[in-house]
Amino acid sequence: MPTPTPILVTGGAGFIGSHTVVELLGAGHAVVVLDNFANSKPSVLERMRRLAGRDFTFVEGDAHDAACLAALFQHHPITAVLHFAGLKAVGESTQVPLAYYQHNVAGTLNLLEAMRGAGCRNLVFSSSATVYGDPAQVPIREDFPRSAANPYGRSKTMVEDICRDLALSEPGWHIALLRYFNPVGAHPTGLLGEDPASIPNNLMPYLLKVAAGQHPFLEVFGQDYATPDGTGVRDYLHVVDLAQGHVAALNALPRLDGAVPINLGTGRGCSVLEMIQAMEKAVGRPIPWRFAPRRPGDIAIYYADPALAREILGWEASRDLETMCRDGWTWAQSEAAGA
Ligand code: NAD
Ligand code: UD1
Repeated sequence: MPTPTPILVTGGAGFIGSHTVVELLGAGHAVVVLDNFANSKPSVLERMRRLAGRDFTFVEGDAHDAACLAALFQHHPITAVLHFAGLKAVGESTQVPLAYYQHNVAGTLNLLEAMRGAGCRNLVFSSSATVYGDPAQVPIREDFPRSAANPYGRSKTMVEDICRDLALSEPGWHIALLRYFNPVGAHPTGLLGEDPASIPNNLMPYLLKVAAGQHPFLEVFGQDYATPDGTGVRDYLHVVDLAQGHVAALNALPRLDGAVPINLGTGRGCSVLEMIQAMEKAVGRPIPWRFAPRRPGDIAIYYADPALAREILGWEASRDLETMCRDGWTWAQSEAAGA
């Protein structure tokens, strides 16, 4: 069999990237990972190799640095890029917006220039459901208007627009703009998961910290939303399903005409109280929580219409809430989480 041409994965040591690299290697792809460990640790690389049972090339460097990218494209005959690298904390983005526009927007421009220079026109971009802002209705379809409410979300919107303009300006670009809903959970082995070093603002990582006794209780932000039990509803998606969605997107790129936004979600909404119940079942004991005021900027309810992903990518999420909580808990208890 001929050696497959390599796929570049920027941010491949991170939460979603590491799971995706394992799936790519499992599907027979050759992979070059580029990461600067801004939000991950070198120890994850060995675990990725172990899980995949195969090796990949690792380059430590800045995915937004033009010189680094030029050298990388020169040394490797890369045919497609999965671009995960970037800054992702919503709250932080309101404090240091220029850093977010610099990294996420200007940095991606450098990547697109480097790809163009190397004649590589296949890209899978990590966008976010946050580009929709507060939707007028659910489930959310890709043709709904975008109205991101913070610099992080606007940086994703800008990159989506840049990709669209680029694809319109010259033929041959195939770009999947993947709008993730709420990625949670971990690899079932407990070897990969979300970096616990970061201060958890999101529900699942915080809940895991409380379950592990590292925080006294969870605050449930708001109890009077217009949802069945009054708490916020989201579309939680297992990170392994999400990783497999990337492999499907990569395979579908030749069929994508230009830059195409695609939701990756389950299509099912889950409330904060439902999530707590599911986690209590996984952990086997009650998890302390109490109601607190609404978190500013929060939206009552959002979940995906996943029909387009099914149609274009032939992909749909298969792991349920119980599996998300069980795998998240396995990760939280694992040695790898403290490595
Ligand atoms: P993460 O922080 O775990 O992973 C990002 C990886 O990129 C890290 O390993 C980090 O070290 C690396 N990185 C950051 N800047 C870099 C740079 N300039 N050069 C090289 N490496 C760099 O984040 P994640 O949760 O895996 O998210 C991946 C992507 O998906 C991000 O673009 C994020 O905005 C997007 N996204 C994430 C979520 C989520 O809830 N996790 C939701 C929607 C979209
Ligand atoms: C947040 C980001 C969003 C990003 C997404 C990634 C904000 C305002 N939005 O969205 O841009 O794309 O993460 O996954 O930060 N909750 C609690 N207690 C907690 C934490 C959360 O009750 O300690 C509730 C929230 O109010 C919400 C739900 O849990 O109803 C989910 O919250 P979270 O995990 O932070 O995700 P999002 O709000 O969807």
